[in-house]
Amino acid sequence: MTTEPTIHASDTVPISLVVNGRPRSMQVAAHRTLLDVLRDDLRLTGAKECCLVGECGACTVILDGRTVDSCLVLAVEADGSEITTAEGLASNGRLTPLQEAFLDEGAVQCGFCIPGQVVSAHALLAANPDPTLEEIQEGLAGNLCRCGCYWQISDAVLATAEGARR
Ligand code: FES
Repeated sequence: MTTEPTIHASDTVPISLVVNGRPRSMQVAAHRTLLDVLRDDLRLTGAKECCLVGECGACTVILDGRTVDSCLVLAVEADGSEITTAEGLASNGRLTPLQEAFLDEGAVQCGFCIPGQVVSAHALLAANPDPTLEEIQEGLAGNLCRCGCYWQISDAVLATAEGARR
């Protein structure tokens, strides 16, 4: 009978990720989260550290095509995955139409939740390019905004979908 090797929380483990299109290989302690590694090792601070229990959505990133709370994903669990963070949405220094719409609709007040909101909205529109208001509200239900900009955020997503139809 073979036994699996035991990994202790403080052991370091090699992982490879593709983050915003760029291959990254590193050694990480087994207990560290994907959020830790993105923010502290890769200096991608768009994903925010807030509740750390999967309640607020401030740490949302896209992992192999689906949104996750990166505070709930161990970095070792993400080994071999493709990750998109808020920093990976714009290209060549140009905001996406969705990001522009957040500005145009006044959906940004303190800004803390916005990277997570934009990442979730980006994934929502990728899966459903023409969502109803109810589908937007449901799709973004995991992203809390303490400033209460929910209507403006929904309007930004609706405006983006409408702009894509024109
Ligand atoms: Fe991850 Fe709140 S910090 S869900």
